[in-house]
Amino acid sequence: MALRSSRVPGFYRLSLAERRRRLREVAGLADDGVDAFAAVDPGALPLDVADGMIENVVGTYALPFAVAMNFRVDGEDALVPMAVEEPSIVAAASNAARIARPAGFRAEVSEPMMIGQIQLTNVGDVAAGARAIREAAAELIGVARRLVPRLAERGGGPREVEVRELARSGPDGGVIVVHLHVDCRDAMGANLVNTLCEALAERVARLAGGRAGLRILSNLTDRRTVTVRCSIEDDRLADDGAAGREVRAAIAAASRFAELDPYRAATHNKGIMNGVDAVLVATGQDWRAVEAGAHAFACRGGAYRPLAVWREREGGLEGELLMPLAVGTVGGALHVHPGARLALELAGIDRADRLAAIAGAAGLATNLAALRALATEGIQRGHMALHARGLARAAGATGELVERVAAELAATGEVKADRAREVFARLSGPIVLKEPP
Ligand code: MEV
Repeated sequence: MALRSSRVPGFYRLSLAERRRRLREVAGLADDGVDAFAAVDPGALPLDVADGMIENVVGTYALPFAVAMNFRVDGEDALVPMAVEEPSIVAAASNAARIARPAGFRAEVSEPMMIGQIQLTNVGDVAAGARAIREAAAELIGVARRLVPRLAERGGGPREVEVRELARSGPDGGVIVVHLHVDCRDAMGANLVNTLCEALAERVARLAGGRAGLRILSNLTDRRTVTVRCSIEDDRLADDGAAGREVRAAIAAASRFAELDPYRAATHNKGIMNGVDAVLVATGQDWRAVEAGAHAFACRGGAYRPLAVWREREGGLEGELLMPLAVGTVGGALHVHPGARLALELAGIDRADRLAAIAGAAGLATNLAALRALATEGIQRGHMALHARGLARAAGATGELVERVAAELAATGEVKADRAREVFARLSGPIVLKEPP
């Protein structure tokens, strides 16, 4: 698939059918007689497939599936698939990506290293037990690698054993946790890591002279991270009535606020997860795992801190996001979910590191959009304009009536469902001539 460009001016103004046509063109989606977008139409997840995915299935649940435009990530254009219910996230991401487009987003993705944990309790001598495991580390890695020969052939597999002494005494006696570091290549790797931990547990328990407890991966994947940076010139930050230099200073001040205050940092990080999660949901990832890891990572220094910071430089602004991001392009829901596969195809993603780079870029973009809006006019105007369009559609408006109803709602400041119905009825109804008196 050869993506021509992620920049399609006016994309958001096209009809849905027209957007699909343009996307097929720019994404070079194969025309093999099958409509690629059938995978994201209502009911596209067949009931029998859904029934095989989880328990007690009684139906499927749909979300809007959209594409954020204008992204350049590591020098290449990218269409960014998003599945999300909140208005303005896709618009915000596309807008910020357009602002950041000249230099684009640059990502550094770490090795795809997951951590499996084996908990050992009732260890008589914690120091001696830990030493025994460390001395057997090479042998343990050898055993673990033989359990996953195909992964090892692809350059991945178990790499390292780390031993952490958690308690010398207490209700569980001496407690040690053994970390198994596993390079999962393009898999998210949860099943793989859990299987390895279960397979090694008895052996490490014997070595330590303790009892095997939990055997499960850690979602604090601080060895599987993405760093995304962007650099923006002042003139691109300017907003109606605010000079670029002022917007730059206000965004940097908003970043410092989040660095000082966990209450603000939580909301700042929510703005990042708006972009990240929307990509993860669209591409069939375990977004709860990424959420859990992101917030644990945000606390790693003892206080909750922002995952992305913004700094001023002469003439512009620099943004940097660092977060754990465990994603996969093989396994998981991807085996079965046609919408997730379409999302990866649209984005031209066939490796987990590219998916991490794009999801991270989406997070930095939604963070930038939120801070820029908050630092200038506040976010409510944009939110309300989009909300008004949604209400106009829900009231029955189509075509150009959507904009007319929405504009009237926004102008009166009464962005409410009953007002939308009234305005729509008035603007669309027949013209009633008054009876002469
Ligand atoms: C809303 O979904 C996200 C924001 O609150 C993020 C932020 O405040 O930075 C706008």
